[in-house]
Amino acid sequence: NSKLKGRDFLTTNDWTLEELEQALNLAFELKQKFALGEPTPYLLYKTLFMIFKDKSTRTRNSTEAAMTQLGGHAHYITEESSQISHGDTAKEIGIILSRYGHGIAIRDDIYLGVGQKYMEEVAKWASIPVINLESDWDHPLQILADIMTIKEKFNNELRGRKFVISWAYAQSHAKPLAVPQGLIMAMPRFGLDVTLAMPPEFELLPEAMEIARRNAEEAGVKFEVVHDMDEAFKDADIVYPKSWGAYVYAQNNFEEMKRIAEKYKDWIADERRMSLAKKNAIYMHCLPADRGFEVTDAVIDGPHSVIYDEAENRLHTVKAILALTM
Ligand code: CP
Repeated sequence: NSKLKGRDFLTTNDWTLEELEQALNLAFELKQKFALGEPTPYLLYKTLFMIFKDKSTRTRNSTEAAMTQLGGHAHYITEESSQISHGDTAKEIGIILSRYGHGIAIRDDIYLGVGQKYMEEVAKWASIPVINLESDWDHPLQILADIMTIKEKFNNELRGRKFVISWAYAQSHAKPLAVPQGLIMAMPRFGLDVTLAMPPEFELLPEAMEIARRNAEEAGVKFEVVHDMDEAFKDADIVYPKSWGAYVYAQNNFEEMKRIAEKYKDWIADERRMSLAKKNAIYMHCLPADRGFEVTDAVIDGPHSVIYDEAENRLHTVKAILALTM
């Protein structure tokens, strides 16, 4: 009997804080039931269609497992395994899959200016919920799992804590802006002071920056931008260093992005940098991480790292979103 039944989940901005908190509360409840082995057949016989235009470990498997554990089933669809590669339009996909099942979930994250628009078009024509599994704009299921993890680690006391999302060097630069943008837009709403750190060429989209600033102002928290990783890490409670592409400068040109990034190889999360953060600071990463480039083994496998709990919470949060919307 959820009021959220039928709702799309394309970006956290479309949901009120109360609605996001409702999803998080359900995620905590589902986590407990999963640990106790209690069945949660809230979507019995229902079908979710998952369209993946990119690779995935966590998103695919947590979503597929979520549907099984809710009593339904998830179909895995790629462009090549369907007629999307031969011209099925977003409108046709939205209308036709709506006649077969109960939800559509899409990952389309590679090219700037493409994925979110595609999802919005599918959602416009679908009569069932459409869920974003990562676009060029946001990765709302990841963001929800990140908030759940932060709540767990800090006993739900978030206000006034320093959250740092920092660019980090990686060997591949074909990386969407979805996670950093999703984080700066959502984290202020939960009372966190947000610091965004990046080299000047790796700025995020102005629309995302504007939403982040507005959300921070409305929540009465800080939102600052720095171009120095050490400065960002200083006195942080939560650090989230990860790579993303220099899309604005390189315009989806991955070779050019690599050339730009080579100047910033020292942007790595190592033990020296972690020592600048607070003693009980946590290290987060949505994964996959480029070990030895984005982060050292000593940090990602060290005492501050919460990557496995963070990855686990992808299951509980997606289960909550699917149960509420479908
Ligand atoms: N964090 C995340 O989205 O992981 P995958 O790319 O493996 O789905």
